[in-house]
Amino acid sequence: MDQEIRGTVRICHFSDLHLALSKRIMPWQLASKRILGYANLRFNRGKTHQLEVFRALLAELVAERPDAVVVTGDVSNLSLGFEFAEVDRLFTEAGLEAANTMIVPGNHDRYTPGADAGRAFETGMAKWLLPQDKSYPRLLTVGPVALFGLDTAVWRNPFRAAGFISKTQIEQLQKLLQRPEVANRWPVIALHHPPFHLPAARLRDYRVGLDGVDHLIDALGDRPATLVHGHLHRLSRRRIQNLDIIGVPSASNNSGVAGTQLSFHCFTFKATGLNEAVAVCCWPGNRGKKMRFDRLPIPAEVRID
Ligand SMILES: [Fe+2]
Ligand SMILES: [Fe+2]
Repeated sequence: MDQEIRGTVRICHFSDLHLALSKRIMPWQLASKRILGYANLRFNRGKTHQLEVFRALLAELVAERPDAVVVTGDVSNLSLGFEFAEVDRLFTEAGLEAANTMIVPGNHDRYTPGADAGRAFETGMAKWLLPQDKSYPRLLTVGPVALFGLDTAVWRNPFRAAGFISKTQIEQLQKLLQRPEVANRWPVIALHHPPFHLPAARLRDYRVGLDGVDHLIDALGDRPATLVHGHLHRLSRRRIQNLDIIGVPSASNNSGVAGTQLSFHCFTFKATGLNEAVAVCCWPGNRGKKMRFDRLPIPAEVRID
């Protein structure tokens, strides 16, 4: 094992920005599923997903001086070009570095057929996509870790936010896992949708789950790995076979409720696996007081219902 692989690395993970729109959008831009997302933003999400708390979270994350950063999608609400441009600017101003950032799209980043077919996410976030990989999975090696970015985002009909992972992408991931530079590293797999069937009603799984998830688990189940995801806007953790699956809350949701309050995760890895997993939960202070950051170990299991 060479020197680089023997060390430890710190990787921070955040997801699901859903920041409010800063510009007026034209009526013709709403002549699609966007009208639903716009209404959700105006009357629901826009109240708790806040720019200033996100900025504070990002500053704290950068201060951790991670070796790599993972962003698991829904960086926009409606896949509009100016949304991606603003996120690009926020990342740059905060001091994130493209060379050690792994970003994958969420369902909100492929919100319309046009945004999906036209690769609006890849165009808008081009600076943050690893240039050596033109398709998914994307691969970034960081010390003892091999970081894979999967694409589970696909345009869906209104009222559906489910993801999809193709067999081709899974086969490609298996091939990458065989590569010599990956063989001795610990795999960390980043994707937007949770890689398990959602508990509760089948309809919920249909609406927001991940089609193709069984193929993914079949392909990966024997290989010990860490999987990180967003989409549920909740802290969660479960083990499926040899996979340790950890979901992060939204990075901007000032919900006031533990488990969904805006957070990022900070991991320490060795080539032998995950050494430490910490949730950094951000609480704005009252009456101009500074933001408080609670650091708590992520329990071995955090079930969601
Ligand atoms: Fe989301
Ligand atoms: Fe999502």
